[in-house]
Amino acid sequence: MDKAQQDALKKAAGIEAAKIVENDMTVGLGTGSTVRFLVDELGRRVQEEGLHFTGVTTSRRTQEQAEGYGIRIVNIDEVDHIDVTIDGADEVDKNFNGIKGGGAALLWEKIVAINSNRIVWIVDQSKVVDVIGAFPLPVEVIPFGVGHVIKKFEAKGYRPTLRMDTDGKPVRTDENDLVVDLHLERIEHPQDLATDLITTVGVVEHGLFLNMVDTVIVGDPNGPCVMT
Ligand code: 5RP
Repeated sequence: MDKAQQDALKKAAGIEAAKIVENDMTVGLGTGSTVRFLVDELGRRVQEEGLHFTGVTTSRRTQEQAEGYGIRIVNIDEVDHIDVTIDGADEVDKNFNGIKGGGAALLWEKIVAINSNRIVWIVDQSKVVDVIGAFPLPVEVIPFGVGHVIKKFEAKGYRPTLRMDTDGKPVRTDENDLVVDLHLERIEHPQDLATDLITTVGVVEHGLFLNMVDTVIVGDPNGPCVMT
């Protein structure tokens, strides 16, 4: 599948997911290229259909895009609940164990997700896998002592790399943290790994989202299909 085909599937999933949003809802808006298509469609509905809802965003990038369409965005602490969050993912298996954080937004994404009544992921078909782990697992780490965290991961065979941007500088998250990607290939015991990562001092959050999602909308050449 080339990038244009993949983008068409992402767009179809985003447009399908936009149908979930109704007037007066509070909606968590994820991050990434698939979510961009979702926000484009929500923006179209706001402008052409008069849809009105409140958004809580998982990154500054999504906030800027949404506000550009006139979508009302508030801080997560200004809402008492989130009706539904729609987000992308890097991989998901049939048990709805997933990897997120390819766009370095995993921390805010997880905070928004756990405060949502319903979580929907939008992915193209290439993201649905038997065993997660081929996609490098992002781990958000505070800058102080990151070298020691990386050494600990190396000793455990996690094959860590510090994520760099195209200018050769370390990628920073919206919280100004760093991202360490773990090249694991196959994650056979995700819950054990999640426990190990979150109990490592210096780790803020990891990109394992285990059985948190309610619905996955998969962009497929035959039309979007829904996994529940
Ligand atoms: C950002 C994420 C994204 O949702 C994930 O990387 C999927 O991105 P894309 O839709 O661009 O493939 O977790 O932190």
